[in-house]
Amino acid sequence: MVEGTSLRERLSVPVIAAPMFLVSGPELVIAAVRAGVMGSFPTANCRTVEQLDDWMSQMMAASGPATAPVVPNLIVHRTNSRLADDLEVICRHRPEIVIASVGSPEPIIDRIRGYGGQVWADVASMRHAEKAIAAGADGLILLTGGAGGQTGWANPFAFARGVRAIHDGPMVLAGGVSDGRAIAAAEVLGFDYCYMGTHFIATEESMAVQRYKDMLVAASLDDVQLTDAITGLDTSILRPSLIAAGLDPKNLPVRDSIEISKDINPDAPRRWKDIWSGGHSVEGVRRVQPVADLVREVANQYQQARIQPGR
Ligand SMILES: Cc1cc2nc3c(=O)[nH]c(=O)nc-3n(C[C@H](O)[C@H](O)[C@H](O)COP(=O)(O)O)c2cc1C
Repeated sequence: MVEGTSLRERLSVPVIAAPMFLVSGPELVIAAVRAGVMGSFPTANCRTVEQLDDWMSQMMAASGPATAPVVPNLIVHRTNSRLADDLEVICRHRPEIVIASVGSPEPIIDRIRGYGGQVWADVASMRHAEKAIAAGADGLILLTGGAGGQTGWANPFAFARGVRAIHDGPMVLAGGVSDGRAIAAAEVLGFDYCYMGTHFIATEESMAVQRYKDMLVAASLDDVQLTDAITGLDTSILRPSLIAAGLDPKNLPVRDSIEISKDINPDAPRRWKDIWSGGHSVEGVRRVQPVADLVREVANQYQQARIQPGR
């Protein structure tokens, strides 16, 4: 259904507004698609399957065969008890690409391909990449060091070369991208598209609270701390949010205990709600702005970088 060149031609710049828990909703996805970049969101952002159905109706109505696609993200990990129900809703709306994250894409491949859709899987290692290809994934999203959220570890230069040797299909860079020059550089490495997550949090249409957006504008790369204390997996966290939540960044509680402490102390910080994630790409976040302005800026930088590589 998706054909490489034609998909690229529908985009103003080869970007996916990355799926982000508690951040990406219909406003952000629709604004992204209208601005000419793929708009993604995790289905976990919907409280119920009925709400997912409603969101998908709104989003699909705002996109079409000539626009950038809407790209739902399914968490395929076995602990996602809603996977089967969410998958049913997705199959009814038939988005052309679905992103599988946190596990093998295998459980959703047959259903999505059954209606002509593609499955793009996120991978953090060569072993993940090999497994996703064996399961039949059409595209691969390479999670690299410094990515926002539950981050990758691999260096993008090395990871791109490794994966390109075994995969011809769409390949997406996740991590460190916040401007058009980085996207042009990623193309030289062999990537077809880039994820931009952190930068889209600081848009007017994201569901993040204003203090989170302001913190991203004020933060630098040095404010990003890698820790597994908040989610149980290595996650890029904004150190100022740890401090604001009353935690000592140098002496964090043992992994996952922050959620448990909520039962004991109702004022304890709630992970994701009070402790915020941002990737190394926070370095490129200068202001909170509408999605259309951000995409226009990034597309101009990308064109400029292609005409004049270097500075
Ligand atoms: C606040 C936040 C929430 C995220 N939630 C998800 C998620 O639900 N599903 C997913 O596949 N990736 C999630 N990610 C990862 C992003 O999709 C993407 O890989 C990452 O933001 C790319 O790095 P960047 O932020 O430097 O652009 C999240 C990232 C952030 C910052």
